[in-house]
This record gives sequence, C-alpha cells and structure tokens, in this order.
Amino acid sequence: MEICLYQQDIGFYSSGKTRTGTQGDFLTPVSTGPVLGQLLSLQITELAQSLRNPTSLHLAEQGADQGHLALDILSSLAQSAPHLLSSLHLHLIEPSPVLAQQQKHSLQPFLSKITIHWHPDLASLPSLSHPTYFYSCELLDSFPVRMIRFFTGQWHERFVTRISDRWVWIDQPASPELLTEIHRWSIPPIEGFTAEIRLPISPWLTLLSEKIEQGAVLTLDYGLPAADLYHPSRSAGTLVALRKHTSASDPLSCPGEQDLTAHLNFSQLVEDGLKLGFQSYGPHPFMTALTRQAAPLLHDSQPLPEKWTRNFQHLVHPNFFGQTHLALLQTKNLPASFRPSMFST
Ligand SMILES: C[S@@+](CC[C@H](N)C(=O)[O-])C[C@H]1O[C@@H](n2cnc3c(N)ncnc32)[C@H](O)[C@@H]1O
Repeated sequence: MEICLYQQDIGFYSSGKTRTGTQGDFLTPVSTGPVLGQLLSLQITELAQSLRNPTSLHLAEQGADQGHLALDILSSLAQSAPHLLSSLHLHLIEPSPVLAQQQKHSLQPFLSKITIHWHPDLASLPSLSHPTYFYSCELLDSFPVRMIRFFTGQWHERFVTRISDRWVWIDQPASPELLTEIHRWSIPPIEGFTAEIRLPISPWLTLLSEKIEQGAVLTLDYGLPAADLYHPSRSAGTLVALRKHTSASDPLSCPGEQDLTAHLNFSQLVEDGLKLGFQSYGPHPFMTALTRQAAPLLHDSQPLPEKWTRNFQHLVHPNFFGQTHLALLQTKNLPASFRPSMFST
C-alpha cells in the first residue's frame, strides 16, 4: 500500500496527478466547496477566544493536497476574524514537491499576509511552543494498513506476491506484533474474517503530541469505533481501491493508478490520545458535528445563498458525507473555557 501510494514519481499520490474532485478519482469533503473551511474557521476563532486571542497562533495541516482547505480557512478568517490574521502562522506538511508547489499556487493571495512554512514530514515540523491548531481531512485513511485473516483456527497476515504476471495474496501466520493488536481490539476469530490494522497511527500521534505543547488536533475522516469496525458483520474488512469515482474490484490491480484506502479505527486515536494527555471530543458524524458548528449561520436571519446550502448539504446529508465521515477533536492544555460548539449538546 505504501509503495502503490507514495513511491516517488509513480505512486498514486506522488505522481502529481489530480486525485480529488470531479476531475480526479474521488470526492472529498474539501472538494465539495468552501463551507468546510468556513466551519473550521469558526472553530479556530473559538479556540483563539478561549486563549484570549494569543499574539501567535499556529495552524498546521498534513495531507493538504492542492491547499484548498487551507485557502478556504484563511479566506473565511480574513472575513469573519481579520484581527486574527496577523497572529497566524500556517504549516503545511507535504512530502510531495509537486503538491507543495500546487499549494503555494493556491495560497498565493495569502503569501504576503501570513507566514507559511512547508515541511517534508511531521518530524521536520518544529516543536511549537505557541498554541497550535492541527487539522487533517482524509489523511489517516491513506496511512498504510496491515491485513489480517482468520482461517484454519489461526490468524494470518496477508502479503502480496507475484505469480506469472499477476499480483496475488499470500497468507502467513500473524506476527506477535499483530496478534497483540488483534487481542487489543477483540477482533472476532471467525473463519474467513478479514480486517485491517493500521500500525503507523500510534507513532504519528506520539510525534504530534511531542510537537504540540498546547492546542487541538482535528481529525476528519471516514471510519468507525473499534467495536463497529471489527463487528462480526463486517467480515470482509474495509480495504477498497478507487479509480475514476468507481471502486475497483481488485486492490492488487493497476498499482499506482488507483487509490487504496481503509476505514480509520477511531478508538485507536482516542485511546492513544488519552495516554498522551489529550482530551477527546467525539468522534461524531459530520451530520451532527458540522450542523452544530454551523448553528450560528443556520439561525442567522439572513437567508443563506443556495450555493452555500447545497455545499452544506453535501457535507451533512447521510447519503453523502454526513454519516460515513466523523470528526474527532483532541485537545491538550487548553483552558476549561474552551467548549467546542462542534461537540456541544
Ligand atoms: C485522500 S487525500 C485527501 C486530500 C485532502 N486533504 C482532501 O481532503 O481533499 C489524502 C492526502 O494525504 C496525503 N498524505 C498521505 N500520507 C501523508 C503523509 N505522511 N504526509 C503528508 N501527506 C500525506 C496524500 O498525499 C494525499 O494528498
């Protein structure tokens, strides 16, 4: 999965080809329009207010693709909270030079207004002693997974090998490392049960926690709590291959030309976060989280433009992103006065 997605120049994401949006291979909440960025800007304003508008506020995004979400957030802040702009620093964590260039192009209107830093990986992000708001959309589902399968009374790991001119699965007994995870998430030992385990999440969150002294980490992605993700009814796992807005039948075909993705185990983020000192809000589905965040706009006496409403519907309607996508906010060392309205009842 790592090679197919990230191999330099030829990986699905490193080739520089357009992957998201109608011209690409799949839609993401970001590609539906600027409303998601507008809603996140409201959350950033709430964070800044709880910190009494600090002199320096760092925003950081990983997996920003063409930089549209960052642009939408900054454009919205420029309108609704212009006093914050002078305190902002934006960090984009982007390993692909082609995408970093596209982000620079998208963010052109802000290059002279705020400081924007690019980092090739999370390790290169400096430790941030100022309050930080780290956000990502559909980043973690593209972190590589390991596949497991239970048959003949034991757990196996699924590997890939080449026979004649075809890539095929080959199963070997699961390693102790994977057995520990299988036990941790009580994955049911049912004949034929297949699932994914994403090991890189824990080191990623640990590193992030080392970088952020005070602030919030917002994760937007599709996924489920462990009890649902590994429910006996979900026996075929969640790995899918996507190409040109269609799911492909074989994840092993056309390496580098189709996206490979699997659902996020949100319990893993919450549990690991608690151990690292984060407080969790959610995860809640977009239909509740984003509707709560949008409440001041929805209750405004001015009618909202039709384009805005259509964009919002895409985000919260259960047939689009409303039910599949969840929002999780993990905060660290924030004042008790911070009450994110995205998660308030
Ligand atoms: C599904 S796309 C989502 C793009 C965008 N955030 C959106 O929501 O439209 C996943 C993105 O995550 C990026 N990505 C995956 N692993 C990454 C990593 N370790 N560091 C930075 N970006 C990464 C990919 O290159 C790709 O641009």
